[in-house]
Amino acid sequence: MKTRAAVVYEHNQPVVVEELELDEPRANEVLLRTAASGVCHSDLSVVTGTIYYDAAVALGHEGAGVIEHVGDSVTDFHPGDHVVLSFVSYCGSCRMCQMGRVCLCESYNVPRGLQLDGTYRLHNSSGDGILQMARIATMSEYMVVPQQNLVKIGAHYSLEKAALVGCGVTTGVGAVLNTAKVEPGSSVAVIGTGGVGLNAIQGAVFVEAEPIIAVDIAEKKLNFAKRFGATDVVNAAENDPVEAVHELTDGLGVDYAFEVIGNPKTIVQAYDMVRAAGTAVIVGIAHHQAEFSIPAQQFVASEKRLIGSFYGSCQPRVDMPKLLRFYEDGILKLDELITRQYRLEQINEAFAAMEAGENARGVIVFD
Ligand code: APR
Ligand code: ZN
Ligand code: ZN
Repeated sequence: MKTRAAVVYEHNQPVVVEELELDEPRANEVLLRTAASGVCHSDLSVVTGTIYYDAAVALGHEGAGVIEHVGDSVTDFHPGDHVVLSFVSYCGSCRMCQMGRVCLCESYNVPRGLQLDGTYRLHNSSGDGILQMARIATMSEYMVVPQQNLVKIGAHYSLEKAALVGCGVTTGVGAVLNTAKVEPGSSVAVIGTGGVGLNAIQGAVFVEAEPIIAVDIAEKKLNFAKRFGATDVVNAAENDPVEAVHELTDGLGVDYAFEVIGNPKTIVQAYDMVRAAGTAVIVGIAHHQAEFSIPAQQFVASEKRLIGSFYGSCQPRVDMPKLLRFYEDGILKLDELITRQYRLEQINEAFAAMEAGENARGVIVFD
C-alpha cells in the first residue's frame, strides 16, 4: 500500500514529504493508521545528524494511532485498538530486560531503523529501502511496526494528546519521578523548557518540589514554564544561569538540576548549579560525538551526583497508561502542551518554529 511520509535524505536539508510503498506487516508486526505525531527535538536531531542514521530515514518517534490489521503471531492486539508508540526495542531476556529496564536492553543488535528481522518495510519510488526512525516513523500516514513497540490505551483518550506521551511527557515526567526520584520539598532547576523540559517541570510540580526554577533563552518558553508551574524563571540569554540559580537558593544551589537540551555547555551548567551532594540529571541527547568535562577532584569533594536519564527510565506499558490516567484525573497537563497543529506537508515549517522557540509542542495531525 501507499503512505505519505517525512523523509530525511541529506543532513541539514529540507525534509522531503513523499509517497512511499509500505509492505504488509510480517510476523509479530502491526499495521497502524497514524492519528498524530509530536514534533520533538530528537526528530530535528536526526535531520542535523546529531542523532545519526547512515541512510535515508522516515522521521517521527512520538505518536499514536489505530490498528488496521495485524501480522502472524500477533495475539495481544486487534484491529481498532488505540495505541501509543514506544520508541525502544528490547529482547525481553537480557539482564536489563529482566530487571524491568527494557529501555536499557543490552542485546538487541538489529541495525538502527530496520524491522527486527533486519529488513525494510518502506521503499521509495526508486525502489530504495527507507529506514524508520526508532523502527516506527510516526510522521507517516501508515506505519508497520513491531508489536513490542505498542502500548494499548483506552479509546476515549484523544490520540493527539496521547501521542505526546510517546516521548516528551514520559521522558520529562519520568526523569523526575523514576530516574531522580525527587523528594517532596526539593529545590529543582530545569534547563531548557521545550516540549520535554516543560514535562520535567510538571513532574517537579507533581512531587511538590519548591522552588522550581525554569532556565531558557527564549522568553516565550519561560512563559510556558510559568504556566506549567515554574516558581521562578531565568533568562540565560541575559543572566548567568548558574549564578542566578545560586541567588535563588540562598547561595546553596539546587537539590536537583535537569538538563533538557543536549548541549555540553548546559550539561556543565546543570552540574555547577546543584548543591554539594545534589544531583544533576542529563535528559537532553547531545551530538553523538560530543563530550563534556568537569573538574575531577571537585567532583569527589562535592559528592555531587551526575546521572543520565533515557526515556524517563520508563517501562512503556506500565508508565504510559499511568500518565494518561494522571491526565484524566487533572493532575497532568497535556492540552496546554500543544501550541500548534501542522499538516505533514508543513514539517519543515514545524522545525523552523522549533528552532525559533515558538511552540511548547507542535503536533502533526493526520485525517
Ligand atoms: N540555555 C537555555 N535554554 C536553551 C539553550 C541554552 N543555551 N539552548 C536552547 N535552549 C532551549 C530552547 O530555547 C528550547 O526551549 O532549550 C529548549 C529545547 O526545547 P525543544 O527544542 O522543544 O526540544 P525538546 O523536544 O524539548 O527536546 C529537548 O530532549 O529528547 C531530548 O533530543 C531531545 O535533546 C533534546 C531534548
Ligand atoms: Zn522525543
Ligand atoms: Zn534485553
